[in-house]
Amino acid sequence: MCGIVAAVADRDIVPVLLEGLRKLEYRGYDSAGLALINENGLQRLRALGRVAELTAQVDETGAAGNTGIAHTRWATHGAPSERNAHPHISGGLAVVHNGIIENHEALRAHLKADGYEFTSDTDTEVVAHLIARELQTTPDFFTAVRASIARLQGAYAIAVLREVEPDRIIVAREGSPLLLGLSDAGNYAASDASALLQVTRRMVYLENGDCAELKRDNYRITRVDGTPVERPEKESQLSADAVELGAYRHYMQKEIFEQPAALSNTLEMLETAHSIQPGLFGADAEAMLKDVRQVLIIACGTSYHAGLVARYWLEAIAGISCAVEVASEYRYRDSVPDPQTLVVTISQSGETADTLAALQHAKALGMTRTLAICNVPESSLVRETALRFITRAGPEIGVASTKAFTTQLAALYLLTLVLAKSRGRLTVSHEAAELTALRHLPVAVAKVLELEPQIKAWAGHFATKQHALFLGRGRHYPIAMEGALKLKEISYIHAEAYAAGELKHGPLALVDKEMPVIAVAPNDALIEKLKSNLQEVRARGGELYVFADADSEMQASDGIHVLHLPEHYGALSALLHVVPLQLLSYHVALVRGTDVDKPRNLAKSVTVE
Ligand code: M6R
Repeated sequence: MCGIVAAVADRDIVPVLLEGLRKLEYRGYDSAGLALINENGLQRLRALGRVAELTAQVDETGAAGNTGIAHTRWATHGAPSERNAHPHISGGLAVVHNGIIENHEALRAHLKADGYEFTSDTDTEVVAHLIARELQTTPDFFTAVRASIARLQGAYAIAVLREVEPDRIIVAREGSPLLLGLSDAGNYAASDASALLQVTRRMVYLENGDCAELKRDNYRITRVDGTPVERPEKESQLSADAVELGAYRHYMQKEIFEQPAALSNTLEMLETAHSIQPGLFGADAEAMLKDVRQVLIIACGTSYHAGLVARYWLEAIAGISCAVEVASEYRYRDSVPDPQTLVVTISQSGETADTLAALQHAKALGMTRTLAICNVPESSLVRETALRFITRAGPEIGVASTKAFTTQLAALYLLTLVLAKSRGRLTVSHEAAELTALRHLPVAVAKVLELEPQIKAWAGHFATKQHALFLGRGRHYPIAMEGALKLKEISYIHAEAYAAGELKHGPLALVDKEMPVIAVAPNDALIEKLKSNLQEVRARGGELYVFADADSEMQASDGIHVLHLPEHYGALSALLHVVPLQLLSYHVALVRGTDVDKPRNLAKSVTVE
């Protein structure tokens, strides 16, 4: 949540800051601001709303400078407003911050007692005043910032500049992502690499507890106590095109259509493989997975839904017991640890605060067999697990997760097969058939995408609805949950998912002609049961929208709309059936005119609790 960009260079860095903020806007977009040092001293511009509003202010004022920090905000403390927008200033310095300062109230009370006045409701302003106060007794800027952050509790990434030291920016990281970008013409910092590709590919990823001083032609990193540390410089492999919209209207649309390529990249290693090996999950995987007794999957949101699908696979195919838990619940629950549990964390960003904290909680309970399934190789999550599988979906910018989900499912299916094999439940012929199915998956998904025109035609039926019900059974119940999440997230239609067998235990009371009911109806062992559930809906006047398979006998009739997916895909059918639900929510959002990529109140990566 919140995006930071900082730059100190030989040139006017305002265009760099603004372009960086545009790239980071997916992280938060309720206000934006920047602070510069130029011949007039410290200049601050802030705007409620999007980066475009801030850009308009820059155009009006002609703001320019060689040193600056900038921020795009997702409100935590204090409503979205110009006065709460970052940077916050105190005594000639300016601070931008991502994260939450948990002890801000106590610090605020001390600072107020010392005469500091607060002009915002944010926790960040505490940081600005703390550093200003520290500078009165600690003249060195870098030392003063370090001494101040040593007093902070919580998670943060910050960037600070000071009017009287126009060639210096101080940054620090604890719990929220921050990296440095290096170039011959200046040095930079940002919340993620996409913001800096415009100026450099040379990145240095800061670790928690790192602080850095950036100047035009050099930088240094220390720990909070001042001990110098070296962090490796890495060449970013991120393609600039990967974060551009290209011919698409929205990132979500682009990312839905990128799914065949994302799957193909994620499963690339299978192209020439004759078998599925534990090494896919890391060098120690064979030893670690050998005598695993159960699997515990921890994640949030869409990633949690991927875990729910995997539970069906792991229990049915690998014969291993599996629990799936929302990270924000697991981290605070008294649970019974078993050191022979494989703890699987799933996250697109690898920076989700609840997932990271839940992993730390599991480790503290003695569960050291940990695996991250993650789309960002440099993320915190990947650094903190013993095993890892990097999905290769490419950057996902749209707040609604799509290609990350299907690639997570592909990774979880591979894990299922590896565990099935290690437990003697995968015959050679079964393994060969699974490899063939996985290799064909990108083509199968591409065929489902061809249904877009029919799905678009359905979208209009939902435009005026307030509620929708999604139904599924078995491993397609989590797919119904994912469909409901997508619809509510981007079209603001209230949507709930139920296991279709639960309908008559309560939710059937909601069904009338105003309630569209979307059914995920693959031609699997539960199809006849599902058909009976759908009859229960129809009998109450509910309008049904059914996603069936080509070989199913389901036919459209009065009040029953049916779309047939091109083929039934066995155990992997969940990966196909989620795609029309993604497309449906996308087109419903278009009809309703909502902001598809930046839905209200949300942000892409939830790095605060
Ligand atoms: O980056 P993560 O996968 O850890 O994010 C988890 C959720 O915040 C995320 O999936 C969220 O639910 C999406 N916006 C759903 O589309």
